[in-house]
Amino acid sequence: MYIQKIFEDREIGKEYEIKGWVYRIRKMKDKVFIVMRDSYGIIQIVFDATSPHFNDADKLKSESSLIVHGKLKEEPKAPGGLELQGTKLEIVHIGEDFPIQKDYSKEFLADVRHLWLRSRKLTTTLKVRATAIKAIHEYFDADGFYEFQSPILQSTQAEGGSELFEVKYFDQKMFLTQTWQLPAEAGIFSLEKIYTVSPTFRAEKSLTSRHLTEFWMIEAEMAWYNFDQMISCAEGLVKHVVKRVLEDHKEDLENVMERDTSKLLPTIQKEFPRITYDKALDLLKNKCDFEVEWGKDLRTLEEEKLVALYDTPVIVTHYPKIVKAFYMKEAPGRPEVVLGSDFLAPEGCGEIIGGSEREENIDSIIARLKAQGEDPKNYGFYLDTRKYGSVPHAGFGMGLERVVKWVTGIDTIKDAIAFPRTPNRFYP
Ligand code: 4AD
Ligand code: MG
Repeated sequence: MYIQKIFEDREIGKEYEIKGWVYRIRKMKDKVFIVMRDSYGIIQIVFDATSPHFNDADKLKSESSLIVHGKLKEEPKAPGGLELQGTKLEIVHIGEDFPIQKDYSKEFLADVRHLWLRSRKLTTTLKVRATAIKAIHEYFDADGFYEFQSPILQSTQAEGGSELFEVKYFDQKMFLTQTWQLPAEAGIFSLEKIYTVSPTFRAEKSLTSRHLTEFWMIEAEMAWYNFDQMISCAEGLVKHVVKRVLEDHKEDLENVMERDTSKLLPTIQKEFPRITYDKALDLLKNKCDFEVEWGKDLRTLEEEKLVALYDTPVIVTHYPKIVKAFYMKEAPGRPEVVLGSDFLAPEGCGEIIGGSEREENIDSIIARLKAQGEDPKNYGFYLDTRKYGSVPHAGFGMGLERVVKWVTGIDTIKDAIAFPRTPNRFYP
């Protein structure tokens, strides 16, 4: 029996059995109060001194595992207003003293991450993450997409050579994938509409609240889609994920995470504004008193100022070609900008999605690869996608942990994944 079932049932006087861990324990002369937790939540159990199990209950420690029977009663002072009057106690493991008692420093909690996973906030965040992934599969499945995998070990870069993790591959070198996209662009000639949920690696030395060196990216690639269709597909995905998370976790977000969930409603209800990069510079200048030189990428500070003007993600399009990847299509009639878009999440969460229509002109791709110092010979398989029945196509990538961070309102991306990898933290 899970604690969830008890709160759903609420049959006063009924005897329930639950398995779980000691979340909190308060020992008094004539009573022991145990707040037990399982994956769902917490419930209070009380053993009176008259109970034959009182002495056992008195031995328990924080995080001991146990199986308890108890009769349900109402108790306004207990969490959730319910309490079990203990009738039976089976100690499964008393255990050593749990290391997380008083020291809650960030460094210490990172050292004992494997134990801190049991905390209510991380448990809730990990549930939201699991629901987000479920929602992603639902969304693509309903739209006729196939799940498609690119190799994790790749032979080229795609998003900038400086952020690659090199791997010794027998006596050659390979790279951990920075994006699923390039092999996926070959995949659409077979399956047309494809997506993935995959680990992604970037050797970014950025110690920020929004960068991980290993993160999970949801990527999609669609044959025949133009720029606007790609953006609508990505917008629909964000809406579906947020909607499903609110359906399943509204209470936990509010009670455990102290998240103001009303801030997420506009994302479900309203169309996301689409503004060009030029317009973004205009807004920054006129509404935020902030000047950005044309041709410079938007930095965190500028993105934060911009998103503060909106209550949904804002989609910035038509970025200068020089700040974006080699595969983005030049805008018709405006070769200095590309059909690339970034979704910037509200509440200062930054870019959650990057996407584009893909360049079809093989000469332009070759020229841009060369301009980046890449040897087009290494991209033979990719260039072949533009040689045999090339079609217009587009795709995008969404950072899972950035979305989880935004939706749950946590202050660092590190808590959006069980075991975060950052430049200076890779244990446990
Ligand atoms: O904008 P990016 O670099 O786009 C691509 O990789 C494309 N190839 C995607 C595609 O079109 N198929 O990355 C996509 C998203 C970002 O918007 C961000 O949310 C996330 O991935 N991201 C990171 N998340 C956490 N830590 C990092 N270091 C991240 N780098 C990117
Ligand atoms: Mg990007």
